[in-house]
Order: sequence, then structure tokens, then C-alpha cells
Amino acid sequence: MNDAIAQTAAVLQQRLAARVPKIAVLLGTGWGPFADAVQDAVTLPYAELPAFPRLAIGGHAGLVKAGRIGNTDVIVLAGRKHSYETGDADGMKGVIRTLAALGVQVLVQTNAAGSLDAQMRPGGLMLISDHINVVQRSPLAGAALDEGGDKRFIDMSTAYCATLRAQARAAAQAAGQPLHEGVYAWVLGPQFETPAEIRMLRLLGADAVGMSTVPETILARHAGLRVLGLSLMTNMAAGMEAETLSHAHTMATAGAASARAVKLLSAVVQALEI
Ligand code: HPA
Repeated sequence: MNDAIAQTAAVLQQRLAARVPKIAVLLGTGWGPFADAVQDAVTLPYAELPAFPRLAIGGHAGLVKAGRIGNTDVIVLAGRKHSYETGDADGMKGVIRTLAALGVQVLVQTNAAGSLDAQMRPGGLMLISDHINVVQRSPLAGAALDEGGDKRFIDMSTAYCATLRAQARAAAQAAGQPLHEGVYAWVLGPQFETPAEIRMLRLLGADAVGMSTVPETILARHAGLRVLGLSLMTNMAAGMEAETLSHAHTMATAGAASARAVKLLSAVVQALEI
């Protein structure tokens, strides 16, 4: 373990005392208000944690909030370093490895995405069944041997845990919340796609497209965590409708759909059996 990760894990262990959760929830665009639902929270800015990234983009606060959702202990991470900021895929490496060092076993990932499925409208929610790493970059590339050696060649055939997905599906059904399920394609961004790129992604089997999540899933699987992923559709993908895409549009739709997304996420987190 490198020094920054060991130091960060020690700070968190000390601040969380005996309450180290098994579930971490990483909040993407539109999912931020979930952090407000955490009870008895201990809050720390990323800036106080040496292994955590420094964030630049608006709407991503960079806060760790540990506490409870109902009776379930969680550690919530509000804010991601995106690959489009630096061109590197390993911006969240320190975060994921710190979680593993703390004993966290499940990473629940959330994001905003564009929908490639005409039936899945803006505001719709999708459970990620699998992903396509369109970027073909890895947060494990170039890793020092002491960061994994042969362990870098991880199996990705069950990247999104089928057992956790079944629990999430059941929780959504019990809450009366529609939940799609499909394949998430990771593009680098920050530009949105062309209509031709979206047609290509559909041919490849993608149901949703976004600029995050996949690097963290790879890091989490490498660190031995199970992963569950939820996407909030903020728009129909490029070329599917007349609208032009913008970050402001993504943020506005995400804001409008947040309350429902957060309700679903609370139900799902409480239903997970670890
Ligand atoms: N494409 C890529 N990323 C996104 C989109 C999109 O249409 N919507 C939200 N994030």
C-alpha cells in the first residue's frame, strides 16, 4: 500500500471510529442530494485526504460523508475526477484503494448518461448490467509491479455483480420504481458524441453512454470490491431527437429527476445483503 493511501485510510478510520461501512456510494451528476439523506454523518472534504483527487468541475463537491441510510452504514463519495479532465484513467485510484484498505466490500456507482434506447426516456433510471470500454484505456495500465503484478490481469466477465443486481431489481420493484437494465458505454468526452458515433455504439450493444464509471469499476474489481451501477438518463443520445446537448442541459434534467433517483438509491442501498 502506498503512503498516501495508508495515511488516508488512517484518517478515515480515526474519524469513523468503529463505524466503518461495507458499502461505498459514489455519486455522479444528478445523484448529489443523496448525500443529504445520510444520517449521523461524519463529513470530510477530499482536500483533507492525501490519496483523494482535487476536483475542478462545478456540481462535484468533493466530500466524503459517512453515516447511515436507515440502518445501513454507508460511506458516500460526492465527487469524481473524470478522465476528460486530464486524459488519464486513474484519477480515482487513490479513492478506490483507500476504500479497499478500509474494508469496504461493495462500490455502488451512479452517473448521468445519454439514452440510446427510445423506450428509456430522460429521467429514466438504468441498472448497469455490463459496460463497454470504448476508450480502451485502463487505470491499471503502467501500474507498478507492487500495485498488482499479475493481479492486473483481472477477469471482467462479472464486472457488475449479478447477486447485487437482483437485490437492486427487487428493491426497485418493491418501491414501485421502474428500473431499466442495460449496457453502459464509456466515452472520454468532454465533447458529446456525433449521431454517427451513437449509431455505432448502438450496433455495438450499448443502451446508455457516459463519461465516467468504467475506470472506477476496473479499479474496484482489481481491489476485490463488488460493483453495482445505476445510470440516470439526462437526455436522448445525439441524433435521436432534435435537441442539442450541453452540460447545462445535463445538469438541468439531472436536477429535475434527482428526487426520484435518490429515493431509488436509498431503497437499493438498504436492500443490499453483503
Ligand atoms: N453522452 C455522454 N455523456 C453523457 C451524456 C451523453 O449523451 N449525457 C450525460 N452524460
